[in-house]
Amino acid sequence: MAAALNFPPTLFWQDNSLRLLDQTLLPAQEAYVTVKDVAHLCDCIKRLVVRGAPAIGCAAAYGTVLAAREAAAAGAGWRMRFDRLCDELAASRPTAVNLMWAVERCRKHAHALAEKGSDEAAVERGLLDLAKRVQDEDRAMCEAIGRHGASMLPKNKAVLMTHCNAGALATGGSGTALSVMYAAQAAGVALEVFADETRPLLQGARLTAWELARAGIPVTVICDNMAASVMRAKKPDGVVVGADRIAANGDVANKIGTYGLAVLARHHGVPFYVAAPSSTFDLSLADGSQIPIEERARAEIAQPNGVQAVPDGAATFNPAFDVTPADLVTALITEKGVLRPPYKDSIAKVIGA
Ligand code: MRU
Repeated sequence: MAAALNFPPTLFWQDNSLRLLDQTLLPAQEAYVTVKDVAHLCDCIKRLVVRGAPAIGCAAAYGTVLAAREAAAAGAGWRMRFDRLCDELAASRPTAVNLMWAVERCRKHAHALAEKGSDEAAVERGLLDLAKRVQDEDRAMCEAIGRHGASMLPKNKAVLMTHCNAGALATGGSGTALSVMYAAQAAGVALEVFADETRPLLQGARLTAWELARAGIPVTVICDNMAASVMRAKKPDGVVVGADRIAANGDVANKIGTYGLAVLARHHGVPFYVAAPSSTFDLSLADGSQIPIEERARAEIAQPNGVQAVPDGAATFNPAFDVTPADLVTALITEKGVLRPPYKDSIAKVIGA
């Protein structure tokens, strides 16, 4: 669907390198970064050049190809060096579980190939094939999420709200939450979308609005603190967001501010949908209290665009994610279908199977 939407690709492999659309520059500039080693990729993940849980997972899968190449270039002790580089990749951001999921899947594959007697070049080729498969699967999951999600919306017109960016930019395909909108638009639903700007890094204003406007979906950017008023005035048909990690009981970690939006949705009687692929579920965690929450630099709050906004004497607190309790979530939209409460059962049955 991303190709039909005519977006510049979020990430792709070319000339033995990973190419990333630099999301820190959007919407002003569409430029690519060429990544040839693991340290550079870790830096790009930390700085949000590439971001969004599934996109980070796809980038990390390609990153293991770079890790294999770097480990081979250093001579003896390939496996130890490869493992160390994989560990660095997996630690580059803590909350989105797709990152660890992709690295561990690729690491296991590399070990299996090496144990079967493949030489280092063959392991590298095998990892590249797998990374492409991870992205192809992500693309297919996005399409299926879009289909399942769109089937739950009104058929003629719908007003929706979203937070952060869970679109093509955040995945290897057409997105999770935004894929629902793209599928609804393709089915002829007239959409009106309100996108929270998403402080402090403005993924909603910069990225979601860029995507939706480019796709011809009417989008209105609002400041985060306007969500309650907009909900009361516009009576949206639903809030649709993505996720960075979903625990076994259905608690959802997503961009900071998602929890507040879910509380508002409950108060206003608006359905609250979370769209995510199975690679975002972490069934090793019983509930959301165990999800590690990334804290980011003070400068993101205190010096937006390099301009001082907070006096030196004041502290800041900058958690990048929050956890929405499962009981505020109307449904989880996955590629395997729409899950309903009680999530402990529906997740175990559909995702754990
Ligand atoms: O810090 P970011 O921009 O990586 O945070 C991204 C989000 O929180 C997204 O909503 C989430 O990853 C879902 S992406 C399909």
